[in-house]
Amino acid sequence: MNDIPPALLKKVRAHRQEHVLLGWEKFDARRRGDLIRQLEAIDLDEIARLYSDRDHPSGVPTADRLTPIPTEKTSEVDASTIALGRESLAKGELAVLLVAGGQGTRLGFDHPKGMFPIGPVSNKTLFEIHTDKVFALVRRYGKPVPFLVMTSPATHDETEEYFREKQYFGLGRENVIFFQQGTMPAVDLATGQLLLEAVGVLFTSPNGHGGTLTALSDSGLLAELEKRGIRHLFYFQVDNPLVKIGDPAFLGRHIALQAEASSKAIAKAFPKEKMGVFALIDGRCGIVEYSDLPEELAHASRDGRLVYGSGSPAIHLFDVGFLKRITEGKKKLPFHFARKKVPYVSDTGEAIDPTTENALKFEMFIFDSLPMADRYLVMESPREEEFSPVKNASGVDSPATCHRDLSNLAGVWLEKAGVKVPRNQEGHVSLPLEISPRFAFDAAELTAKIGTRRTIESATYFE
Ligand code: UTP
Repeated sequence: MNDIPPALLKKVRAHRQEHVLLGWEKFDARRRGDLIRQLEAIDLDEIARLYSDRDHPSGVPTADRLTPIPTEKTSEVDASTIALGRESLAKGELAVLLVAGGQGTRLGFDHPKGMFPIGPVSNKTLFEIHTDKVFALVRRYGKPVPFLVMTSPATHDETEEYFREKQYFGLGRENVIFFQQGTMPAVDLATGQLLLEAVGVLFTSPNGHGGTLTALSDSGLLAELEKRGIRHLFYFQVDNPLVKIGDPAFLGRHIALQAEASSKAIAKAFPKEKMGVFALIDGRCGIVEYSDLPEELAHASRDGRLVYGSGSPAIHLFDVGFLKRITEGKKKLPFHFARKKVPYVSDTGEAIDPTTENALKFEMFIFDSLPMADRYLVMESPREEEFSPVKNASGVDSPATCHRDLSNLAGVWLEKAGVKVPRNQEGHVSLPLEISPRFAFDAAELTAKIGTRRTIESATYFE
C-alpha cells in the first residue's frame, strides 16, 4: 500500500493542512495515489502567500496610477494597412486561440458552453459558428490556420469528443489542437484550509483564462507555433459568436505598429456597465475590472464620451515572440481573488452546502499580460458588429439578446447588399436571420453572392 511521501507529509503538516488526510487509513491504493498526485501538484507555499494577501490584492491599481488610454477605430484603418493583414494571413502567419475552459455557471448549461446552440435560425452551437469562421478564413487566404482550443478538466473530455464526433467541422484533425489549462484549489475564507470536495478529494477549479499563457508555454505549443512559422495569435472567448476572427484591419494595424499585444475595445453603454475598461496603468496598457474602477473615474466624461469608456470584449492579438518572452522561466500572471460559495466536506466528514460565501478562489486573468507589452494597440469597433456574449440564462448578455444581435448583424449586411429587411419599432430586425460564415464571411462577400433577391419575408438562413 502506498503511503504519503515523507517530504509531502512534512509540507502538509507545516502548512497545517493535515485535515486533507481525513479517512486516509481506510483509503485503497488508488484513492491514496489520487490524493498524493493532487497534493503534489499544489504549491502550498504559494497558497499560504495568496491567502495572507487576501485583503491586499496586488492587481488592483489605485486612481493615481490611471490615465486615459489612446485608442484607434477599426473603421479608420486604411486600405494599405488592411492589405498588410491580408498578406500575413496569406503567408499563414496567424493561429487562433479559443478559450473554452470556463464552467459557465451563470448560463447554467450542463455541457461545455461551446456546445450551447445559439444560431437564431440554424441553431448551430457556439463551437460550430467559430469553426465556420475559421473554415472561411482558411478558404479565403488559402493557408491552414491552426485552431487552438483551451479546455479545462471541467470541459476537456466532452469538448474533444464533440469535435471528434463532428469530424473537426472540416478543419482537419491536424489543425485543431486541444490543450488543457491548469487548476487551483480553493481555501476556506476563514481559515485558509484547503477545501475538500469529497473525503480524499481536494476541491479544484480552472485557474482562470490567464492560465492560457502558462498552459501554452508548458505544453510546448508556443514553441510548436513558432516552428510552424506562426507570428500572431488571435485570442477570443467562447461566448461571443459575433467575434471577427482574424480581422485583417486589426491584424494589419497590429503588424504596422509592431505591437506585442493588441486589443479590440467596445464603447461602454453606460458608466457602470459590467465591463473591464482600458486605461494606462503607470503609463502602460492595461484593463481595470469594472468593480475596481474608482467611482469618479467610471463617471468622468469629456465631449460627451466617457473618459474610461473603452470596454474590453476580451479579443486580443498577441505576438508569439512576446508570449515566449513573458512566459520564460515559468513566469506566471498574478492571481485575483474571488469569494464564492463552495460546497465542501468538513473536518468531520460532513457535507456542507454553505449559504454565504465561504471560499477563496484564485484565478489569473489574461489581461494582466497587457502591461508587459512594450508596444500595444487598442482598437475600438462598433459593438453591434463584434460583441454579444452569452453569459446569463436570461436578461442582459443572454441567448435572447445574442439571437437579436446575430439577426441584426445579418440584417445590416443584407441591407448593404440592397435587400429590404423587416424591422420592428425599436429598429431591430423583426425576423430571425442568420448568415453562415461559410456562405459569406463579411458584408462584401454577401453582396457578391446574394444574386437578385431583394426581400426577406420569413426566417432565413443563408448557407
Ligand atoms: P467567464 O469569465 O465568462 O467565465 O469566461 P465562464 O466560466 O464562461 O462563466 P461563469 O462566470 O462561470 O458564468 C470568459 C471566457 O474565458 C474562458 C471561458 O470559457 C470563456 O470563454 N475561461 C474562463 C477559461 O477558459 N478558463 C477559466 O478558468 C475561466
